Amino acid sequence: METTRTLGRSGMEVSALGFGCWAIGGEWQDADGQPLGWGKVDDEESVRAVHRALDLGITFFDTADTYGAGHSERVLGRALGKRRDDVIVATKWGNVFDEETRTRTGVDDTPAHARRALTASLDRLGTDHVDLYQLHLNDLDPERAAELRDLCEEFVQQGLIRAYAWSTDDPARAAVFARGEHCAAVQHALNVMQDAPEMLSLCEELGLASINRSPLAMGLLAGKRQGPQDAGDIRSKPPAWLQGFGDGAAADPEWLARIDALKEILTSNGRTLAQGALAWIWARSPKTVPIPGFRSVTQAEQNASAIEKGPLTADQLTEINRILER
Ligand SMILES: NC(=O)c1ccc[n+]([C@@H]2O[C@H](COP(=O)([O-])OP(=O)(O)OC[C@H]3O[C@@H](n4cnc5c(N)ncnc54)[C@H](OP(=O)(O)O)[C@@H]3O)[C@@H](O)[C@H]2O)c1
Repeated sequence: METTRTLGRSGMEVSALGFGCWAIGGEWQDADGQPLGWGKVDDEESVRAVHRALDLGITFFDTADTYGAGHSERVLGRALGKRRDDVIVATKWGNVFDEETRTRTGVDDTPAHARRALTASLDRLGTDHVDLYQLHLNDLDPERAAELRDLCEEFVQQGLIRAYAWSTDDPARAAVFARGEHCAAVQHALNVMQDAPEMLSLCEELGLASINRSPLAMGLLAGKRQGPQDAGDIRSKPPAWLQGFGDGAAADPEWLARIDALKEILTSNGRTLAQGALAWIWARSPKTVPIPGFRSVTQAEQNASAIEKGPLTADQLTEINRILER
């Protein structure tokens, strides 16, 4: 496998695996107290993990203004430092939050907010442009999104961003954004437990990159058997949209059984389970770029080194479909 992939129609080249920076934002919460982070993190370890990723050839980092209420962007910006121009930085907008109290206070889909949010992200990241700017409102009304798409074209003309995308699981919405010349990608959930055949077809048809969030099913495909004990971790009190963790954060037994059934194939050729989950994603389409989360140097090393082991084979994909009966 090539160690890089092209970020859709933008022509930007990225490592075949990006690093997802949600967890390194640390603790933050919704206005009703629902945890939205992944519990406590050590910023110095996050910085070391980013440095290790850079040394291992990772050139793509995905964050959002709201992760850790601004903290993830600050940590990423600090970690990249002088190497910022060696990498492609993606961030997102659409949520409103209070940096002081680390609380998400709502959403704002207005063009005025998008402009304010971009300025604030540039400041926190310590850069003069964002490479890929992503709309973070999964279900936004398509007409409003079309306005924001046109605004993104203005941002491109002004040199503030190089390309843009929508983080959405709906192919029809992704197609609305794709009508813009500089739309390069769609970010959507994809992992061996949650396939997205329609979205992948759309990406192949329109030449968009498929940036894959939750590639490790929020840790279950990395071997987690139960939810975390840390009360600040979103998985300890999973909201309705979070699949795979049930009540009281116990992992869904059906998911665990299916993961067990796939273990032999995923861990073939000396892969760890997490590396096998990433290998499935690369095999699924030439457009995919998984962005697993991380919060330690060890996870960074394991995930980055999945690239050299390459994708699963077509036969292995067929066998996985047979086991999952899809
Ligand atoms: N709406 C959106 O746009 C959206 C939504 C979700 C995610 N995302 C993006 O997608 C990225 C990834 O998705 P995700 O955060 O949902 O989850 P994920 O990548 O499926 O799972 C990440 C978690 O798995 C564990 N892990 C990672 N590597 C591991 C390894 N090698 N061995 C063992 N465990 C490992 C870590 O949890 P522990 O530290 O607990 O072990 C890590 O935080 C996010 O960081 C974010 O950038 C975007």
